[in-house]
Amino acid sequence: FQVVHVTGARPNFPKAAPVVRALDGCGVRQRLVHTGQHYDERMSDVFFRQLGLPEPDENLAVGSGSHASQTGEIMVGLERLFGASRPGLVVVYGDVNSTLAATLVATKLGIPVAHVEAGLRSFNRSMPEEINRLVTDRLAELLFATSPDALVHLGNEGIAAEKVHFVGNPMIDTLLANLHLFDASAIGRQLTLPQRYAVATLHRPANVDDPADAAELVKVMHGVADQIQLVVPLHPRGRETLANAGFFRHPGIRVIDPLGYIEFLSLVRGARAVITDSGGVQEETTVLGVPCLTLRSETERPVTISHGTNRLVTREDLVESVVRLLSTERPTAGWPVPPLWDGHAGERIAEVIARFIGAHAEGGAS
Ligand code: UD1
Ligand code: UDP
Repeated sequence: FQVVHVTGARPNFPKAAPVVRALDGCGVRQRLVHTGQHYDERMSDVFFRQLGLPEPDENLAVGSGSHASQTGEIMVGLERLFGASRPGLVVVYGDVNSTLAATLVATKLGIPVAHVEAGLRSFNRSMPEEINRLVTDRLAELLFATSPDALVHLGNEGIAAEKVHFVGNPMIDTLLANLHLFDASAIGRQLTLPQRYAVATLHRPANVDDPADAAELVKVMHGVADQIQLVVPLHPRGRETLANAGFFRHPGIRVIDPLGYIEFLSLVRGARAVITDSGGVQEETTVLGVPCLTLRSETERPVTISHGTNRLVTREDLVESVVRLLSTERPTAGWPVPPLWDGHAGERIAEVIARFIGAHAEGGAS
């Protein structure tokens, strides 16, 4: 019985690392596939090095493209692989195109799928991730939820409760395992930052794809940079549009290449505030106790608001929110964290998978 993990984009890697490690501890035979959805050194390789992930057994090297071409190419590559090796279980992560493609291929070949980070919902179908989440959860045999709201959503969608396991958050396992390496002063020195700075990450299509949206966003971010030094490890997606909109032309904005995981979380740890449209960053700031302003109209991660440091903001109220935030103290200890975000999600996932293998391998599955 072989478990195959399918990863491909930056947010997959910190989620997969603790699951692979915990399954290793249970002696499970595993293979890791990289679809190649993300391929720059700083979007991919650095995570394998820093998070102790094994080298991928296969890299499909699909690269960038439209949704249909990227998803389709991953499907063709995986169909060939799964057809030849017949894994007993395919594990997928999060909500990216690689997640959807692997789920469709495995399910059509009769191979069960386990979805890590099941049940998150933004209820906004203009987000590609929401479509990927809905389809993946509909088809998965094992659904691993990171928060109680996810259990409610899956129940409402008629997913049988026995398929769903509330295990906590493997992204936070990775964060807690590496916490001792997050050195805010070291990254501050390396980037010659002032004591007080804010971090921004922006990559959602709704913020960075359309030149008019980008221009509006740039105006607002310049307003923020009038208040506090901004460091922006910029995702490649929006680089050109934001540059054309004049983003880089403010002395208080420091745009840099995407950072490695350890460097990025060191930077976040020392920040006075984070402004983001990322999913994972909302969770990481919650656990690090760093105030987070999320530039989106809704979040599929509401526990980061109810149990964390996150707040949704519009472009219109961002500058005002930053001013208000800077006039209050940043908490130094004692903030709540969501239930089971305790560093042991990977082990819980591995236990369920090991039971699944026990039940299915007996019947003679490969
Ligand atoms: C993808 C995910 C998104 C996730 C994000 C995390 C989908 C539909 N979207 O968005 O949910 O939040 O990853 O980072 O799966 N590019 C490079 N180098 C790379 C990768 C991408 O330059 O290594 C550039 C290319 O111009 C590419 C663009 O970024 O066209 C977008 O990449 P893509 O993987 O299609 O989507 P993301 O915006 O990264
Ligand atoms: N990240 C990183 N370097 C960066 C930006 C992000 O290491 O410059 C990490 C961070 O841990 C984050 C994860 O990559 O949670 C995924 O980030 P991204 O915002 O790309 O994806 P999302 O969570 O929005 O899907």
